[in-house]
Amino acid sequence: MTMQYPPGATPLDPDENKGLKLAHITTRGELDYFEAANIRKAEQWAFGRKHKNLLTPEFIRRLHKQMFGDVWKWAGSYRTTEKNIGVIAWNIGPELHQLCDNVQYQIKHSSYQPDELAARFHHQLVKIHPFPNGNGRISRIMGDLVLASLEQPRFSWGRESLDKETKARKNYLAALRAADKNDYSLLMDFVRS
Ligand SMILES: Nc1ncnc2c1ncn2[C@@H]1O[C@H](COP(=O)(O)OP(=O)(O)OP(=O)(O)O)[C@@H](O)[C@H]1O
Ligand SMILES: [Mg+2]
Repeated sequence: MTMQYPPGATPLDPDENKGLKLAHITTRGELDYFEAANIRKAEQWAFGRKHKNLLTPEFIRRLHKQMFGDVWKWAGSYRTTEKNIGVIAWNIGPELHQLCDNVQYQIKHSSYQPDELAARFHHQLVKIHPFPNGNGRISRIMGDLVLASLEQPRFSWGRESLDKETKARKNYLAALRAADKNDYSLLMDFVRS
């Protein structure tokens, strides 16, 4: 299957493409549809209850499996190949562990206001890029779940689809690039825009 990707989206390796569970899918549009349905179901699961160990690598993997497990065999498994973005594959486990510990500490010590804490966490999680695909989507939901656990409203994430080449996606990627340089101001504005 050949597919077109919006800028900033990670192409799938041919190997990962083999992990498609739904043999009847032939177009990008159909894939988007089934992924979106799977994610809606996962969001109901994720936001419908309180989670004790939200900020753990185990929970993040479990959530990825909930979001993508109807569509992809590799849902919930870390990537084993390198991408344009992300840490070296064998560092994913330790880096995630450290990020989760850091954010738990930041919450405990109120190091940041909730919005800044969640925005920073989102950026750092997507930068690790733990999974073969779906890193943007799971990292946005993780940011929102951390907010929910702090009894804050979810981010609006530009109020426009980020899966296509929208103005919102352009602003989002520009904000992430600024965050790469440790300037979180654009991202902080974007997440509530
Ligand atoms: N330059 C960048 N710096 C930091 N993060 C980036 C950069 N470019 C892209 N990203 C992040 O990587 C994500 C794309 O990774 P991936 O394809 O694994 O996730 P996705 O959920 O499938 O993506 P999408 O947001 O396109 O649906 C983007 O959504 C964005 O969050
Ligand atoms: Mg993608």
